[in-house]
Amino acid sequence: MKSLVSVAAFVAGAIAQATFEPADFNITEALLDNGVNISAIPELAPLAERSSLSGCSIACNSLKLIFGSDQVETQSEAAYSAFVVKYWSAQQREISPQCVFKPAKALELSTSILISRLTRCPFAVKSGGHSAIPGGSNIAGGITITLEKMDTTTVSPDKKTVSFQPGQTWGDVYRKLANNNVAIIGGRVSSVGVGGLTLGGGISFFSSSYGLACDNVLSYELVTASGLVINVSENSFSDLYWALRGGGNNFGIVTKFNVKAIPRAPTMWGGMRTYLDTEFSALIDAYYNLGMNAKKDGKAHQILSFGWGGLQVAQVELEYADPISDAPILAEYNSIEGAIQDQTAIKSLPELTDQLDGPAGGAGLRQSFWTWTTKLDIEMATVTKDIFFEELNSVVDAEGLLPAVSLQVLTDPILEQTAARGGNPLGLNPQEGPLMLVLLAMKWTNSADDERLNQFAARVKALAMAKAKAAGKASSYEYMNYASPYQNVVAGYGAANQARLKAISKKYDPTGVFETLQPGYFKLDGAPWGEI
Ligand SMILES: Cc1cc2nc3c(=O)[nH]c(=O)nc-3n(C[C@H](O)[C@H](O)[C@H](O)COP(=O)(O)OP(=O)(O)OC[C@H]3O[C@@H](n4cnc5c(N)ncnc54)[C@H](O)[C@@H]3O)c2cc1C
Ligand SMILES: *[C@@H]1O[C@H](CO)[C@@H](O)[C@H](O)[C@H]1NC(C)=O
Ligand SMILES: *[C@@H]1O[C@H](CO)[C@@H](O)[C@H](O)[C@H]1NC(C)=O
Ligand SMILES: *[C@@H]1O[C@H](CO)[C@@H](O)[C@H](O)[C@H]1NC(C)=O
Repeated sequence: MKSLVSVAAFVAGAIAQATFEPADFNITEALLDNGVNISAIPELAPLAERSSLSGCSIACNSLKLIFGSDQVETQSEAAYSAFVVKYWSAQQREISPQCVFKPAKALELSTSILISRLTRCPFAVKSGGHSAIPGGSNIAGGITITLEKMDTTTVSPDKKTVSFQPGQTWGDVYRKLANNNVAIIGGRVSSVGVGGLTLGGGISFFSSSYGLACDNVLSYELVTASGLVINVSENSFSDLYWALRGGGNNFGIVTKFNVKAIPRAPTMWGGMRTYLDTEFSALIDAYYNLGMNAKKDGKAHQILSFGWGGLQVAQVELEYADPISDAPILAEYNSIEGAIQDQTAIKSLPELTDQLDGPAGGAGLRQSFWTWTTKLDIEMATVTKDIFFEELNSVVDAEGLLPAVSLQVLTDPILEQTAARGGNPLGLNPQEGPLMLVLLAMKWTNSADDERLNQFAARVKALAMAKAKAAGKASSYEYMNYASPYQNVVAGYGAANQARLKAISKKYDPTGVFETLQPGYFKLDGAPWGEI
C-alpha cells in the first residue's frame, strides 16, 4: 500500500508567516497533499467529516495500511517488545503505546501527525530515549514515534558544517565524524540521543570554547503541527529558530539538524578520578577555580560529583580538548593526590564517551533527575554537598539506591554564546555568570521507593535553594535536560521568554498539537506533574 504516499509534497519554505495555519485548516486535504487519500482507508473515511472522533486503534491500523507492517509495530509483535527495552529508565519501559511508528522520512512523520489530529490519538516522539521523565518520549495507549530510521550524518565538503538526523546516539555521530577530523557540540555519553539533548540545550566537553549544542545549530528541518516540512534558521522562520534553541519538543519534530563543525585532533585527554572525603574540600576549590578561569582556556571541562556507595566518594570527570595530560589550566586538579582510582588517559572522543557510559549508564533501572542553578561559589558547592549527604540518611536504605549530586559550570564563554545569532530562550545572562549547575541523579530498583526518593530530592533542592536565596546567589534557571517532572522549566527561563515562546507556539501551532496531542515532557505552561 506504499503507493498511497507520494514523495512530491515536500514544502520548502516560502509560506505566509502571518497565518501559518489558517483557521479553516482541513486535515483531510493536508493528507491528500501528502499523497494519502483517507477515503481509500475504510476506518478513516468517516473521520473526514467528523474529525473529532477518538481512536488510537484506528490511527495505528491506518498507519499500517499506509506504510506497511515493517514501519508499524503493535503490542503482539516481537519488534514491539524489543523496542520498549531501548528506553534508558525503567519508568519509560513500563509505558505501553498502542503502536510504535518508524517513519523514514519527514513526509511520513508529517502524515502521522495529521492522522493523530484526525483521530485525536496522542503521540510521543523518541530520539535516544534517555529522558528521565516518564512519558517524556513514550506514551500509554498512543502512537510512539521512534526516529530510529532517520540516521544519517554528513559532513559538508568544506568541513565547516555537519548535518545529522535525530534517530542517532552521540556515539553513532562521533564515530561517523572521527575519520573527517571534525566533531560537533554534543553529549558526553555515547548512548544518549542527539534529539532531546540538542533541543534542551546540550552541554559538551567543548562547551567552554563553543557554547551549548543548541547554540551551534545553524538550521533545523522541522515538521510542523500542520504537517509542513520547513527549514528554520536565523533567516527563515527566525522566531521558531530562537524557540527551538532550548524550547524542547513544543514547536515541532526536528528531522535534521545542521550544525557548526569543530576541527578535532584524533585524540584528547580525559577520564574520571575517584577520591574519599579527605579530598572533598580541595576538589571543591579546584572546581571553583577552574570554573572561574574558563575564559583563560576553554579547552578544559569538568563534572564534580559526590555520591554514596557504602561510603562517601567524590568523582571528578576531567577533559582537555588536546592530547595533553598536564595542561596548566588543570594544574590545581592534577596536584590533588590520593585518587583511589584514576582513568584519565589520552583517548579519542568516541572512546571517552563510551567510557562514561559505565558510571552514567544504569539502563533499565528506575531513574530520576533533579536540577537547580546558583552562582558559582565555594560556599554554595560545599553546602549543596553537605545537604545532599545529610538528607540522604533518611532514604539510604532504598533498594539498589545509587545517588549522586553533580556540579557543573555554565562558564562565562557558554553564557556569552547563548546570545549568538539572535539568542535563545533559556534566559541565561552573561552578566550573572558563571553559574553552578546542579544535577541530583538517582537510580534504584523498587517502585515502592519512587515517592520518598523524589521527596528526598525535592527537599535537597529546597534547602540548597533557600541557602542560595539567603546569600543572594540563586538563579531561576532549571536545565530542561536534567529536570524532574515536578519542575516548571519554562517558567525558569523568565516571564518574558515564556510569554514569547507561547506566542510563537500559538502562531505555528494554533490548535496546540504539540502541547496537548503530544502531552509528554516539559510544556510551555507548568511542570509535567505539577510542582512540589
Ligand atoms: C546517561 C546520560 C548522560 C547524559 N549526558 C548529557 C550530557 O553530556 N550533556 C547534556 O547536556 N545532557 C546529558 N544528558 C541529559 C540528556 O540531554 C537528556 O536526557 C535528553 O533528554 C536525552 O535526549 P534523548 O534524545 O536521548 O531523549 P528522548 O527521551 O528520546 O527525548 C527527550 C525529549 O526530546 C524530544 N525529542 C527528541 N528528539 C526530538 C526531535 N527530533 N524533535 C522534537 N522533539 C524531540 C522527545 O519527544 C522527548 O520529549 C544525559 C542523560 C543521560 C541519561
Ligand atoms: C475537508 O476536505 C474534504 C475533501 O476536500 C471535504 O470532504 C471535507 O468536507 C472537508 N472538511 C471540512 C471540515 O471542511
Ligand atoms: C480518494 O479515494 C476515493 C475512494 O477510493 C476516490 O473516489 C477518490 O477519487 C479519491 N480522491 C483522490 C483525490 O484521489
Ligand atoms: C536551510 O537554511 C540554511 C540557512 O539559511 C541553508 O544553509 C540551507 O541550505 C537550507 N536548507 C535547505 C534544505 O533548504
